[in-house]
Amino acid sequence: MERPQNCILVIFGASGDLTRRKLLPALFALYLKNLLPTDFAILGASRSQYTDDAFREHITKNLQEFSKSTFEPDAIHDFLTHLYYQAVDTADASTFEALKNRLAELDDTHHTSRNFLYYLSTPPSLYEKISSSLGAQGLQKEGDGQGWKRIIIEKPFGYNLESAQELNKKLQQVFSEKQIYRIDHYLGKESVQNIMVFRFANRIFEPIWNQNYIDHVEVTTSEFIGIEERGRYYEGAGALRDMLQNHMLQVVATVAMEPPVVFEPDAVRNEMVKIFQALRPLKAAEIATQVVRGQYMASEFEEMKFKGYREETNVAPDSQTETYVAMKFFIDNWRWGGVPFYLRVGKRLPTRVTEAVIHFKRTPHHLFQRENMAHCGCNQLIIRIQPNEGITLRYGMKYPGSGFRVEDVNMNFRYSDLADVYKPEAYERLLHDAMLGDATLYARADGVEACWKFVMPILNAWENDPENRLHGYRAGTWGPEQAMDLFDADHDDWHYPCSNLIDSGEDCHL
Ligand code: BG6
Repeated sequence: MERPQNCILVIFGASGDLTRRKLLPALFALYLKNLLPTDFAILGASRSQYTDDAFREHITKNLQEFSKSTFEPDAIHDFLTHLYYQAVDTADASTFEALKNRLAELDDTHHTSRNFLYYLSTPPSLYEKISSSLGAQGLQKEGDGQGWKRIIIEKPFGYNLESAQELNKKLQQVFSEKQIYRIDHYLGKESVQNIMVFRFANRIFEPIWNQNYIDHVEVTTSEFIGIEERGRYYEGAGALRDMLQNHMLQVVATVAMEPPVVFEPDAVRNEMVKIFQALRPLKAAEIATQVVRGQYMASEFEEMKFKGYREETNVAPDSQTETYVAMKFFIDNWRWGGVPFYLRVGKRLPTRVTEAVIHFKRTPHHLFQRENMAHCGCNQLIIRIQPNEGITLRYGMKYPGSGFRVEDVNMNFRYSDLADVYKPEAYERLLHDAMLGDATLYARADGVEACWKFVMPILNAWENDPENRLHGYRAGTWGPEQAMDLFDADHDDWHYPCSNLIDSGEDCHL
């Protein structure tokens, strides 16, 4: 694999959770695989006052805890020689001048030709400020011996359509769109990228990947965990903003997009954006019947006791924030006309699973009906994004013996079968791509805005229309019963995944 050009990565929000849990472990893994540049510097920046040594010590402890790579003391020692720290206070412009000087110094030491990548892992309220302060110091300039400059923006990108548009506008006053990398870590997952390969590197599925053969599509992201210590953030977000507007719609786009002409950033993202633009907006009157929102309540489950959402730290006792959303919608284009898409996302559900299920139409003629009244003859393709990543195709087989009894069986591929192949974490892939200047797996301004446009009617209805009730569900269950009503045909129901790929059923959990 290619190694990026020498560069400096500046992480704003370096004392935060994402840096220690995800970013530094990902960078260390890339380092061990020789996928970082031959020379580089990582400069942590935040308000805390660390010396370089104190920051290195802090990171070492965290790498011991969070790194999945083998912890080799020599390797970590070498890696740490590339790590630095600079205190930066966004409210104090002079600290950006100090940052500029520090970058010039590190640029000399590490021969990075003024190639700088900025990672904004701070509260979103600081994105604009940091970008304009970098601009005020000329730290966004490229060309004429200035190297390249790129900026990665963590999610959430905006709080609603208006704030996302405003943020795009402010960022684009300093950086060009080509320099802006909006992260959605779901696109960094191997199994999400594999959806594109599965569809476009094989001929057999493409002719049936449309409304002629597909009955409906389901995407589920279920988490077993609650909101943990993130009450303050989650109260202002909720499941729709936190997961559906971004991660889940990105998965929908990979399932639904047309094949791009070339596998290049703009060609791929053009096709994804077309899907976002084709999402049929829900009318105010449809929201009460096509969207179900829920909030987890206290429960006891297999000798475990779970708090209700309203009892979590930093959550209002009468909070109306949703921890679960299920919805039905359509994509208005030639390929998907009339095919319902069902999305379901929630915290404190029975297990941690993300999957897309393609439900094919039933056979046109039910030939073995006499002995198989209950058999649907509807094939399913289950794309398991996590855990136990893989793909299962379900189809009917003759059960041995007299007569013609049909039973469904699975044809499985599991990533774990590729025993010796290393499967990188999402952040490894995305950081590496940004250093290489490949934005294929990053969201583009028009895509983010189109996703907000689609969810805005729902957010507005929840705020203004009392018809849209928030339903309680017991922690550890599959969410409010009302989510079942989204299916109009009697025979349809959600697919209930187990934590392993092969089994399924409503009683599946850990
Ligand atoms: C984050 C959300 O973006 O994604 C979290 O803010 C969520 O609430 C997380 O838990 C899920 O990511 P993953 O990779 O564990 O599915």
